[in-house]
Amino acid sequence: MIEQIKKYTKTKWLGTNIIYEELMDSTNTRAKMVGGENVMKQAVVVAKRQTAGRGRRGRNWISPEGNCYFSILIKPDIQVENAPVITLVAALALTQAIKNVTELDTQIKWPNDVVVNGKKLCGILTESSVGNDGLEYVVIGIGINANQKRFDLELESMATSIILQTNQMVDCAHMIGEFLNCFENTFEVFLDKEDMTDLMDRYNSLLVNRNREVRIIDRGERIGTAIGINEKGELLVCGADGDVETVVSGEVSVRGLYGYV
Ligand code: BTN
Repeated sequence: MIEQIKKYTKTKWLGTNIIYEELMDSTNTRAKMVGGENVMKQAVVVAKRQTAGRGRRGRNWISPEGNCYFSILIKPDIQVENAPVITLVAALALTQAIKNVTELDTQIKWPNDVVVNGKKLCGILTESSVGNDGLEYVVIGIGINANQKRFDLELESMATSIILQTNQMVDCAHMIGEFLNCFENTFEVFLDKEDMTDLMDRYNSLLVNRNREVRIIDRGERIGTAIGINEKGELLVCGADGDVETVVSGEVSVRGLYGYV
Protein backbone atom coordinates (compact mmCIF):
# COMPACT_ATOMS: atom_id res chain seq x y z
CA MET A 1 0.00 0.00 0.00
CA ILE A 2 2.73 2.48 1.00
CA GLU A 3 4.65 1.99 -2.24
CA GLN A 4 1.42 2.22 -4.22
CA ILE A 5 0.51 5.56 -2.63
CA LYS A 6 4.03 6.90 -3.17
CA LYS A 7 3.77 5.98 -6.85
CA TYR A 8 1.04 8.60 -7.21
CA THR A 9 2.43 11.40 -5.04
CA LYS A 10 4.22 14.37 -6.52
CA THR A 11 4.42 16.32 -3.28
CA LYS A 12 7.28 18.39 -1.90
CA TRP A 13 6.87 17.49 1.77
CA LEU A 14 3.63 15.68 2.49
CA GLY A 15 3.57 11.89 2.44
CA THR A 16 7.22 11.12 3.13
CA ASN A 17 6.06 9.23 6.25
CA ILE A 18 3.24 6.81 5.61
CA ILE A 19 2.02 4.40 8.28
CA TYR A 20 -0.18 1.58 6.97
CA GLU A 21 -1.91 -1.24 8.76
CA GLU A 22 -4.71 -3.36 7.41
CA LEU A 23 -6.69 -3.06 10.63
CA MET A 24 -6.68 -0.08 12.97
CA ASP A 25 -9.09 1.19 15.60
CA SER A 26 -9.10 4.65 14.03
CA THR A 27 -6.53 6.33 11.80
CA ASN A 28 -7.31 9.62 13.58
CA THR A 29 -6.59 8.10 16.99
CA ARG A 30 -3.31 6.68 15.67
CA ALA A 31 -2.31 9.96 13.99
CA LYS A 32 -2.95 11.82 17.26
CA MET A 33 -0.66 9.39 19.08
CA VAL A 34 2.06 9.99 16.50
CA GLY A 35 1.45 13.73 16.83
CA GLY A 36 2.02 13.57 20.58
CA GLU A 37 5.26 11.60 20.22
CA ASN A 38 7.15 14.56 18.74
CA VAL A 39 9.09 12.48 16.24
CA MET A 40 7.50 13.30 12.90
CA LYS A 41 6.66 16.74 11.55
CA GLN A 42 4.01 15.24 9.31
CA ALA A 43 2.60 11.79 8.62
CA VAL A 44 -0.11 9.99 6.73
CA VAL A 45 -1.88 7.12 8.49
CA VAL A 46 -3.82 4.65 6.37
CA ALA A 47 -5.95 1.59 7.17
CA LYS A 48 -7.94 -0.87 5.11
CA ARG A 49 -10.55 -1.23 7.85
CA GLN A 50 -11.26 0.48 11.15
CA THR A 51 -12.82 -1.09 14.23
CA ALA A 52 -13.58 2.21 15.97
CA GLY A 53 -13.79 4.79 13.18
CA ARG A 54 -14.96 8.13 14.51
CA GLY A 55 -17.21 10.75 12.92
CA ARG A 56 -18.12 14.27 13.86
CA ARG A 57 -20.17 14.97 16.98
CA GLY A 58 -19.14 11.74 18.66
CA ARG A 59 -20.73 9.56 16.01
CA ASN A 60 -19.25 6.29 14.75
CA TRP A 61 -17.90 5.95 11.25
CA ILE A 62 -18.63 2.41 10.19
CA SER A 63 -15.57 1.32 8.23
CA PRO A 64 -15.88 -1.90 6.21
CA GLU A 65 -13.18 -3.03 3.79
CA GLY A 66 -13.39 -1.42 0.35
CA ASN A 67 -13.56 2.24 1.32
CA CYS A 68 -10.66 4.64 1.92
CA TYR A 69 -9.69 5.60 5.49
CA PHE A 70 -6.75 7.86 6.20
CA SER A 71 -5.54 10.71 8.37
CA ILE A 72 -3.02 13.45 7.76
CA LEU A 73 -0.92 14.72 10.66
CA ILE A 74 0.57 18.19 10.24
CA LYS A 75 2.23 20.65 12.58
CA PRO A 76 1.71 24.02 10.93
CA ASP A 77 3.09 27.17 12.44
CA ILE A 78 -0.21 29.09 12.50
CA GLN A 79 -2.44 30.85 14.99
CA VAL A 80 -4.68 28.48 16.97
CA GLU A 81 -7.83 30.34 15.93
CA ASN A 82 -7.07 29.75 12.24
CA ALA A 83 -6.76 25.96 12.55
CA PRO A 84 -10.48 25.10 12.11
CA VAL A 85 -10.37 26.47 8.55
CA ILE A 86 -8.06 23.60 7.57
CA THR A 87 -11.09 21.33 7.45
CA LEU A 88 -12.55 23.45 4.63
CA VAL A 89 -9.18 23.38 2.86
CA ALA A 90 -9.26 19.58 3.07
CA ALA A 91 -12.78 19.42 1.63
CA LEU A 92 -11.69 21.56 -1.29
CA ALA A 93 -8.67 19.36 -1.96
CA LEU A 94 -10.84 16.26 -1.72
CA THR A 95 -13.30 17.42 -4.41
CA GLN A 96 -10.31 18.07 -6.67
CA ALA A 97 -8.70 14.69 -5.98
CA ILE A 98 -11.97 12.85 -6.68
CA LYS A 99 -12.37 14.76 -9.92
CA ASN A 100 -8.80 13.99 -10.98
CA VAL A 101 -9.05 10.28 -10.23
CA THR A 102 -12.63 9.50 -11.26
CA GLU A 103 -13.91 12.48 -13.32
CA LEU A 104 -16.79 12.69 -10.83
CA ASP A 105 -17.99 16.22 -9.99
CA THR A 106 -18.77 16.59 -6.31
CA GLN A 107 -19.92 19.47 -4.14
CA ILE A 108 -19.33 20.58 -0.57
CA LYS A 109 -21.93 20.75 2.15
CA TRP A 110 -20.60 23.35 4.57
CA PRO A 111 -18.29 23.01 6.33
CA ASN A 112 -16.70 19.85 5.04
CA ASP A 113 -18.93 17.04 3.77
CA VAL A 114 -18.30 16.06 0.18
CA VAL A 115 -21.61 15.27 -1.50
CA VAL A 116 -22.95 14.18 -4.85
CA ASN A 117 -26.56 14.11 -6.00
CA GLY A 118 -27.71 15.17 -2.55
CA LYS A 119 -25.95 12.33 -0.75
CA LYS A 120 -22.82 12.18 1.37
CA LEU A 121 -19.75 10.67 -0.29
CA CYS A 122 -16.99 11.55 2.18
CA GLY A 123 -16.64 12.72 5.75
CA ILE A 124 -13.82 14.69 7.33
CA LEU A 125 -13.00 14.79 11.03
CA THR A 126 -10.40 17.39 11.96
CA GLU A 127 -8.94 17.34 15.44
CA SER A 128 -6.22 19.51 16.88
CA SER A 129 -4.10 19.72 19.98
CA VAL A 130 -3.23 23.00 21.64
CA GLY A 131 -0.52 23.41 24.27
CA ASN A 132 0.99 26.31 26.19
CA ASP A 133 2.92 27.45 23.13
CA GLY A 134 -0.05 27.31 20.80
CA LEU A 135 -1.03 24.77 18.17
CA GLU A 136 0.82 21.45 18.58
CA TYR A 137 -0.68 19.49 15.72
CA VAL A 138 -3.70 19.05 13.49
CA VAL A 139 -5.08 15.69 12.36
CA ILE A 140 -7.38 15.62 9.34
CA GLY A 141 -9.18 12.29 9.05
CA ILE A 142 -10.91 11.37 5.83
CA GLY A 143 -13.33 8.58 5.03
CA ILE A 144 -14.32 8.12 1.40
CA ASN A 145 -17.21 5.85 0.50
CA ALA A 146 -15.39 4.29 -2.41
CA ASN A 147 -16.41 0.73 -3.24
CA GLN A 148 -19.38 0.21 -0.91
CA LYS A 149 -22.48 -0.90 -2.79
CA ARG A 150 -25.00 -1.13 0.06
CA PHE A 151 -25.70 1.03 3.05
CA ASP A 152 -27.73 0.30 6.18
CA LEU A 153 -31.35 1.36 6.00
CA GLU A 154 -30.86 4.46 8.16
CA LEU A 155 -27.99 5.69 5.95
CA GLU A 156 -29.38 4.68 2.58
CA SER A 157 -31.20 7.92 1.86
CA MET A 158 -28.20 10.04 2.90
CA ALA A 159 -25.09 8.18 1.75
CA THR A 160 -23.60 7.10 -1.55
CA SER A 161 -20.27 5.86 -2.88
CA ILE A 162 -18.03 6.43 -5.87
CA ILE A 163 -18.81 3.01 -7.30
CA LEU A 164 -22.56 3.66 -7.05
CA GLN A 165 -22.09 6.98 -8.86
CA THR A 166 -19.62 5.93 -11.54
CA ASN A 167 -19.86 2.15 -11.80
CA GLN A 168 -16.10 2.04 -11.39
CA MET A 169 -13.96 0.53 -8.68
CA VAL A 170 -11.70 2.96 -6.86
CA ASP A 171 -8.05 2.31 -6.09
CA CYS A 172 -7.62 3.86 -2.63
CA ALA A 173 -3.84 4.14 -3.05
CA HIS A 174 -4.40 6.27 -6.14
CA MET A 175 -7.07 8.34 -4.39
CA ILE A 176 -4.92 8.95 -1.31
CA GLY A 177 -1.82 9.78 -3.40
CA GLU A 178 -3.81 12.27 -5.45
CA PHE A 179 -5.37 13.75 -2.32
CA LEU A 180 -1.88 14.38 -0.92
CA ASN A 181 -0.96 16.25 -4.12
CA CYS A 182 -4.12 18.36 -4.03
CA PHE A 183 -3.97 18.99 -0.29
CA GLU A 184 -0.36 20.14 -0.31
CA ASN A 185 -1.11 22.68 -3.05
CA THR A 186 -4.34 23.95 -1.50
CA PHE A 187 -2.82 24.05 1.97
CA GLU A 188 0.05 26.22 0.76
CA VAL A 189 -2.44 28.74 -0.63
CA PHE A 190 -4.20 28.75 2.77
CA LEU A 191 -0.87 29.17 4.63
CA ASP A 192 -0.06 32.38 2.82
CA LYS A 193 -2.79 34.36 4.62
CA GLU A 194 -3.89 31.69 7.11
CA ASP A 195 -7.43 32.01 5.82
CA MET A 196 -9.73 31.29 2.87
CA THR A 197 -9.19 34.61 1.03
CA ASP A 198 -7.64 33.01 -2.05
CA LEU A 199 -9.71 29.81 -1.90
CA MET A 200 -13.12 31.32 -1.14
CA ASP A 201 -14.33 31.70 -4.72
CA ARG A 202 -13.49 28.11 -5.57
CA TYR A 203 -15.07 26.87 -2.34
CA ASN A 204 -18.25 28.90 -2.87
CA SER A 205 -18.61 27.67 -6.45
CA LEU A 206 -18.75 24.11 -5.03
CA LEU A 207 -21.05 24.91 -2.13
CA VAL A 208 -24.18 22.79 -2.40
CA ASN A 209 -26.06 24.99 0.09
CA ARG A 210 -25.39 28.16 -1.87
CA ASN A 211 -28.52 30.29 -2.43
CA ARG A 212 -30.61 27.57 -0.82
CA GLU A 213 -32.73 27.67 2.25
CA VAL A 214 -31.04 25.99 5.17
CA ARG A 215 -31.97 25.13 8.74
CA ILE A 216 -29.41 26.19 11.28
CA ILE A 217 -29.59 23.87 14.23
CA ASP A 218 -27.74 24.70 17.42
CA ARG A 219 -29.52 25.41 20.70
CA GLY A 220 -32.52 26.51 18.68
CA GLU A 221 -33.47 26.18 15.06
CA ARG A 222 -33.93 28.89 12.41
CA ILE A 223 -34.22 29.13 8.65
CA GLY A 224 -32.29 31.34 6.25
CA THR A 225 -30.68 31.45 2.81
CA ALA A 226 -27.03 30.42 2.67
CA ILE A 227 -24.98 32.99 0.76
CA GLY A 228 -21.48 31.52 0.93
CA ILE A 229 -18.44 31.56 3.18
CA ASN A 230 -16.30 34.52 4.18
CA GLU A 231 -12.51 34.50 4.41
CA LYS A 232 -12.68 32.95 7.88
CA GLY A 233 -14.65 30.01 6.50
CA GLU A 234 -17.81 31.02 8.33
CA LEU A 235 -21.13 30.53 6.57
CA LEU A 236 -23.14 33.67 5.85
CA VAL A 237 -26.86 33.09 6.13
CA CYS A 238 -29.49 35.68 5.31
CA GLY A 239 -32.53 35.50 7.58
CA ALA A 240 -36.14 36.32 6.68
CA ASP A 241 -35.64 39.79 8.17
CA GLY A 242 -32.77 40.44 5.74
CA ASP A 243 -30.12 40.35 8.46
CA VAL A 244 -27.03 38.34 7.65
CA GLU A 245 -25.91 35.92 10.34
CA THR A 246 -22.40 34.49 10.50
CA VAL A 247 -22.48 30.80 11.37
CA VAL A 248 -19.30 29.39 12.91
CA SER A 249 -18.69 25.68 12.46
CA GLY A 250 -18.44 23.50 15.52
CA GLU A 251 -21.54 22.28 17.21
CA VAL A 252 -23.88 23.80 14.68
CA SER A 253 -25.54 21.71 11.99
CA VAL A 254 -26.74 23.15 8.72
CA ARG A 255 -29.32 21.13 6.86
CA GLY A 256 -31.51 21.62 3.83
CA LEU A 257 -35.19 22.10 4.46
CA TYR A 258 -36.19 18.70 3.17
CA GLY A 259 -33.29 16.42 3.97
CA TYR A 260 -29.60 16.06 4.47
CA VAL A 261 -28.47 18.65 1.87
C1 BTN B 1 -18.01 12.75 9.62
O1 BTN B 1 -18.67 12.53 10.64
O2 BTN B 1 -18.54 13.13 8.59
C2 BTN B 1 -16.51 12.57 9.64
C3 BTN B 1 -16.09 11.17 9.36
C4 BTN B 1 -14.59 10.97 9.32
C5 BTN B 1 -14.20 9.53 9.15
C6 BTN B 1 -12.73 9.34 8.93
S1 BTN B 1 -12.31 7.70 8.43
C7 BTN B 1 -10.61 8.02 8.67
C8 BTN B 1 -10.51 8.86 9.93
N1 BTN B 1 -10.43 8.03 11.10
C9 BTN B 1 -11.50 8.17 11.89
O3 BTN B 1 -11.70 7.55 12.96
N2 BTN B 1 -12.35 9.07 11.37
C10 BTN B 1 -11.83 9.62 10.13
